[in-house]
Amino acid sequence: MVQKAKPTDKSESTNKSESTSKSESPVKSELTDKNQSPKAPKGLSKIATEVPLSGIRRFFDLASEMKDVVSLGVGEPDFFTPWNVREAAIYSLERGQTAYTSNAGLIELRRAINANLERLYRVSYNPDNEILVTVGVSQGLDLVMRTLLNPGDEVLIPEPAFVAYRPCVYLAGGVPIPVETTADDNFAVSVTRLQKLVTDRTKAILIASPSNPTGAVLSEKISRKSST
Ligand SMILES: Cc1ncc(COP(=O)(O)O)c(C=O)c1O
Repeated sequence: MVQKAKPTDKSESTNKSESTSKSESPVKSELTDKNQSPKAPKGLSKIATEVPLSGIRRFFDLASEMKDVVSLGVGEPDFFTPWNVREAAIYSLERGQTAYTSNAGLIELRRAINANLERLYRVSYNPDNEILVTVGVSQGLDLVMRTLLNPGDEVLIPEPAFVAYRPCVYLAGGVPIPVETTADDNFAVSVTRLQKLVTDRTKAILIASPSNPTGAVLSEKISRKSST
């Protein structure tokens, strides 16, 4: 569902470059942006009200109201969920499978996920304790960040990046460190730039491949280097 943006929701988070001071959270430094609502309701947590609003929602709303405009905003497939998947969901409800499962998700599902990873990427994980089913990427990332980060730990994020990446690091007590990528270079992630930003507080690099919104795919060479 498309969420209505507030009138103060002026623009998407600005893309800070590597020049962002290490001692200052890039998210916090955006708080003076116009896209932060000046009237956050009283009583909310400081950290929650400091996270800037996402301006992209405003574009979704604008595009939905304009004639002859194709919205490229929400990244959804242009086909319905395949029938065998919908059918399985319907039948599981009919069979009364509506109660709690294991916290990690149904073991049959975790085994199927592992089989799929083996088939697609030739990597294998133990379904008993290395695979966790979440409702989506956002929940997965939130859990990972809250599990990994101690206050002040830094996470390198090649940008432009998916809108929720900075907030999910910030909400977990970490410091998002933007790593610039540019159109001239097809938004490739530069190992040299990454290396320059690594400090003794660096805990993780948050990379989506293919990237949303740039579509850039990580080269095998960079994947290997950045995982070491
Ligand atoms: C790169 C990227 N990361 C994370 C997400 C969030 O995924 P989810 O909707 O599964 O929470 C999206 C959704 O579009 C995305 O494109």
